[in-house]
Amino acid sequence: MSQIKKIAILTSGGDAPGMNAAIRAVVRAAIYNNLQVMGVMRGYDGLVKNDIIPMDSKSVSNIIQQGGTILKSARSKDFLTPEGRKTAYENIIKHNIDALITLGGDGTITGARIFGQEYNFPVIGIPCTIDNDLYGTDYTIGYDTALNTVVEMVDKIRDTASSHSRLFFIEVMGRDAGFLALRSGIASGAEAILVPEIDVDFEKLDTFLTNGFKKQKSSSIVIVAEGEEKGGAIEIAKIVEQKHPEYDVRVTILGHVQRGGTPSAFDRVAASRMGVTAIQALLDDQKSVMVGIVNNEMVYSPFNRTLKHKKGLNPNLLELVEILSI
Ligand code: F6P
Repeated sequence: MSQIKKIAILTSGGDAPGMNAAIRAVVRAAIYNNLQVMGVMRGYDGLVKNDIIPMDSKSVSNIIQQGGTILKSARSKDFLTPEGRKTAYENIIKHNIDALITLGGDGTITGARIFGQEYNFPVIGIPCTIDNDLYGTDYTIGYDTALNTVVEMVDKIRDTASSHSRLFFIEVMGRDAGFLALRSGIASGAEAILVPEIDVDFEKLDTFLTNGFKKQKSSSIVIVAEGEEKGGAIEIAKIVEQKHPEYDVRVTILGHVQRGGTPSAFDRVAASRMGVTAIQALLDDQKSVMVGIVNNEMVYSPFNRTLKHKKGLNPNLLELVEILSI
């Protein structure tokens, strides 16, 4: 029988659409299992500053469809220090909190791992990031919504690109991972996709674009992941323009629009499943694990394993791009 009676939940790092759906699932599943729930405001910062409030079933009403996070988010500098974490632990004890559930990406899981180890305290992670770059889950919450946002934006750019026979370089987020770039590029029929996981082959890019123009393609779209080593869309576009002053080149950086908006049905369902599983993990006496979905099954992945491995891009998808952009 689990000793856990009261839990706290926080959202940290870059927000992701579907975080609210996950908060709702955690709070409701906790109450369903007779646990009390506290909400920590602004991520780890709220733990350090003791900004911790009680939550009930009603406090998560009508949020499943909202982007952002009702608990707010931050990247806390204090929590990076042992003193900051000590204060955070003292606040946790003050509130009689027995376990913590953290929603966020790589940085959030790193903080959770350190804190859990330092104080031998049960912490469960829920992967929330539009980057989808966490090992131990096929999908992170927010990724699907961001993907759909990018595709919608690229479709709009395609309209104007075609009208003017232009070449567009479109930069998408993803930190140092190319998941968002690769999938959005395939879904929007991009002529080329540049991801940080693979060195840019300028000759190949040149051949693709030149062949496209020879075939009188009405437009060309190149998706550039922001973490691209050779530079972002602006730098890559400059290199291509220097070689081909005859191309009518434009650059669009999609930016934070990718992080907002109503979460997709896919993200809401994933968030609901992960939230309930996180409570289940605590009741199963798990600690220092991230919940995830692998092959449509709910799984736990130890923080250490998640943080040690880098999730790879699907090579089949990479091959698709070459075949389909002829
Ligand atoms: O991790 C999510 C993310 O949106 C990345 O794709 C991006 O590199 C980063 O956060 C941007 O962070 P900020 O909102 O702090 O500028």
